[in-house]
Amino acid sequence: MYNIAIVGATGNVGRKILSILEERNFPIKNLYLFASKRSAGKKINFKGVEYVVEETCEENIKSKDLDFALFSAGGDTSLEFAPIFAKNGAVVIDNSSAWRMDPKVPLVVPEVNPEDIKWNNGIIANPNCSTIQAMPVLKAIHDKYGLKRVVYSTYQAVSGAGMQAIQDLEDGMKGIAPKKFPKPIVGNVLPHIDVFLENGYTKEEMKMINETRKILHLDDLKVTATTVRVPVLNSHSESINVELLNSFELEDVVKVLEAAPGVVVYDDVDNLKYPTPLEASDKDDVFVGRIRRDFSIDNGLNLWVVADNIRKGAALNAVQIAELMIKGK
Ligand SMILES: NC(=O)c1ccc[n+]([C@@H]2O[C@H](COP(=O)([O-])OP(=O)(O)OC[C@H]3O[C@@H](n4cnc5c(N)ncnc54)[C@H](OP(=O)(O)O)[C@@H]3O)[C@@H](O)[C@H]2O)c1
Repeated sequence: MYNIAIVGATGNVGRKILSILEERNFPIKNLYLFASKRSAGKKINFKGVEYVVEETCEENIKSKDLDFALFSAGGDTSLEFAPIFAKNGAVVIDNSSAWRMDPKVPLVVPEVNPEDIKWNNGIIANPNCSTIQAMPVLKAIHDKYGLKRVVYSTYQAVSGAGMQAIQDLEDGMKGIAPKKFPKPIVGNVLPHIDVFLENGYTKEEMKMINETRKILHLDDLKVTATTVRVPVLNSHSESINVELLNSFELEDVVKVLEAAPGVVVYDDVDNLKYPTPLEASDKDDVFVGRIRRDFSIDNGLNLWVVADNIRKGAALNAVQIAELMIKGK
């Protein structure tokens, strides 16, 4: 049995972590809930017991004997407090982007690179939601055919941008101006996720590019991305165009994907079987459909990949990392 802290327990991802810990009957001895000062004293129910939320501060961390700290409280909170939890003996599993590209921090999708948890120094990073769902699919294809180039185009749900973003979607339907998004999200699509960088990409796009290379251990893989926010409540969709090093038969690609852990092939257009955000929400798996040859290049493949961004894209992946750690102990 383990002592667990959830940092950001009042947020979207934090609450989902709690429900997944309950669903999977995670072996918890003591549970501690942390958030900002604003939420200190709030009560959250877990398995019929009320837990009081504590402010995330050094004093409250040091008074606990912790095995795991699951963070989903934004990058600044992770930068400041993850090292304090780690120094205090906990393994931190962090959902923010703060530590992902640190060479001393493994970036892990359990179905893809479980071996990387072994070299952690007290912090393990959970990849970006849009990267996570592509990984089990691309890993299976890479192992069989070799990846030469990947082109991502995403259609990302508002839930990936936190509670205020969900409020913007609800408010937008009543004609109220958005607070989180720079332009209305209702009746619109925004090719703008996270901040714009000097190279013309958004930070979200660069996360997808860099994290893909790190997780697959393919430092030179050619990857590009366009990430787009759409007025969908939950679950991200992605068009993934890949160029492979080796030739393939389409039916073999389908078999490879059917055998991939965490992946469900949902592809029968005659019977309207292609994944959509509504169908993928509240499911653990990554769904792939519209599997077809890209006739414009040699060894080209088009895929449509949909997954619940709060579940597999964040909370579930973090809990699976903790389960992997327990298995290895
Ligand atoms: N893996 C992924 O790709 C993925 C997917 C979605 C989200 N995320 C990440 O997960 C994090 C949370 O996302 P979310 O959607 O759950 O956001 P959210 O619903 O807005 O919740 C934010 C949480 O962070 C807490 N928090 C804010 N400032 C804090 C501080 N100074 N100290 C301690 N806690 C603080 C909030 O507590 P209060 O209630 O007290 O304000 C709340 O619990 C973000 O870093 C986001 O980037 C990652």
